[in-house]
Amino acid sequence: MRNPPLYCLIASSLAGLLLLLGALAAQGPGAAAVASQGGARSPSPDPGLADTASFLHPGFLDPDCDPDLLPPWSAIRCRFARFLEGRRLFDDEHFGGNGRTCETCHSGRDGTIDPDEVALRLWLDPDDELFTHDGLDDFTSGTSRLEAHATILVRRELPPWVQLTHDPAATSVVLARGVPSTVNTPALDPALMYDLRDHTLEGQALGAIEGHALNTVPPTELELELIAEFQQTGRRFFSSEALRRFARGGPAPRLPLGRTASEQRGREFFVDAPWDPPSKKGLCAFCHSGPMLNTANEFVELPTGAPPGFRAFDIGVSTRNVLNNPVVSYDVTDFCGTTLTVESSDPGIMLTGPYDILPELVALLPPEQFCILHRAFFVNMHKTPQLWGVADTAPYFHDNSAKTLEEVLEQYNFMFESNVGFPITDSNVELTEQDIEDIVAFLRLL
Ligand code: HEC
Ligand code: HEC
Repeated sequence: MRNPPLYCLIASSLAGLLLLLGALAAQGPGAAAVASQGGARSPSPDPGLADTASFLHPGFLDPDCDPDLLPPWSAIRCRFARFLEGRRLFDDEHFGGNGRTCETCHSGRDGTIDPDEVALRLWLDPDDELFTHDGLDDFTSGTSRLEAHATILVRRELPPWVQLTHDPAATSVVLARGVPSTVNTPALDPALMYDLRDHTLEGQALGAIEGHALNTVPPTELELELIAEFQQTGRRFFSSEALRRFARGGPAPRLPLGRTASEQRGREFFVDAPWDPPSKKGLCAFCHSGPMLNTANEFVELPTGAPPGFRAFDIGVSTRNVLNNPVVSYDVTDFCGTTLTVESSDPGIMLTGPYDILPELVALLPPEQFCILHRAFFVNMHKTPQLWGVADTAPYFHDNSAKTLEEVLEQYNFMFESNVGFPITDSNVELTEQDIEDIVAFLRLL
């Protein structure tokens, strides 16, 4: 029998040395520093995985470590341990609930679901966890709504100052909403949910675990932190390396220049420019400006009356109600006690409370106690979403009513034509077929 070649021996002794070094580092001063920070360490929820991980990555602790307190080599292992556990929590952890994980709805590379994916999943496995609870037509049976529109039922508690006109005793209302993509948003947008009701990823994840997964085991603070961290670092949560670099403090992404004449014309709609009808330059940038294309720019005030920097608008989606979702009548009382009645298929930030959204945004509004803007004024306003990678994350809008980018633009023509939404409507703007083709060509570059 031949002796093993020399490089095998070297390789195996190197591996042994690494294991030894790793084991030593695990006991090292950094690890001790973390342990002495206090903070009860939660037992690793999946000992099997933890064992494999520590075997493969010597010195791997449980993910309850702080890379900033560790020497560089241990910090790398700590980050990796946190990443692996975050991924496991996002993709596989049920928290003793109905079998759903975050990945059930924020699936694949696009971080959302669409009717084609729903059809495929139903065909492959009718017992897929998507088809349960708030995925069903009425929480108990039926998959027709999911199949047609890929929407989920969202129950919103009514704030004390809102009553349903026809059912004053009701304490909540159910709305059918799309699954917003988890691409780019977790790391780069602090305003969460279509109605801006969540301000932190941890709070949002807790809500999802309770609301969608009907958990019986409460997640620990560390677990919520790891889910948040995973969504802010994993590749699948970015539409490009440029966006990922931006999230890490790199340069802000810039509008692509466009190669074809059509793309370049489409770009003009996203350039910050003053309102100068009949020119349509800057029309989309009024609301889709800034590095993430989701803040109102300094020129928005004139055509819309909205404060620059604001992040929620009524573009007529709830009013047009293409999908015929139930329209509900709300009696809304403002801070000074005046009650107004509004009807809507999804009132958006009104139910969150315009003064309970992200504090940076509240700061743009006149103080609540002056009652200059009635709470009902905010009916049908939804979050302005970021647009990077948007060509890959159909369907669009809070109700998934636009299945394609062309349908998105038809919505804007509805907004301009009808007197719904913002006063932009008064200026006879209309997107021509050529405009639509150009804008879609440009959106595909993002
Ligand atoms: C049953 C499907 C479903 C599951 C499971 C689910 N989500 Fe969601 N997610 C949604 C829907 C629907 C919304 C939008 C709800 C709204 O705005 O009212 C949403 C919103 C979000 C948002 C905000 C995105 C934005 O653009 O503001 C994030 C982040 C998110 N989910 C992460 C998670 C995480 C993390 C988990 C697991 C802990 C999870 N989701 C589980 C359906 C789901
Ligand atoms: C008055 C503000 C405003 C203007 C002007 C505006 N948008 Fe929007 N945009 C929004 C809001 C708010 C939403 C979300 C609406 C909803 O969910 O119901 C949105 C949603 C979108 C979406 C869907 C994204 C997704 O992930 O669902 C696209 C695409 C889009 N806008 C493109 C455009 C283009 C192109 C223009 C110019 C023709 C434009 N917008 C002009 C406020 C605006």
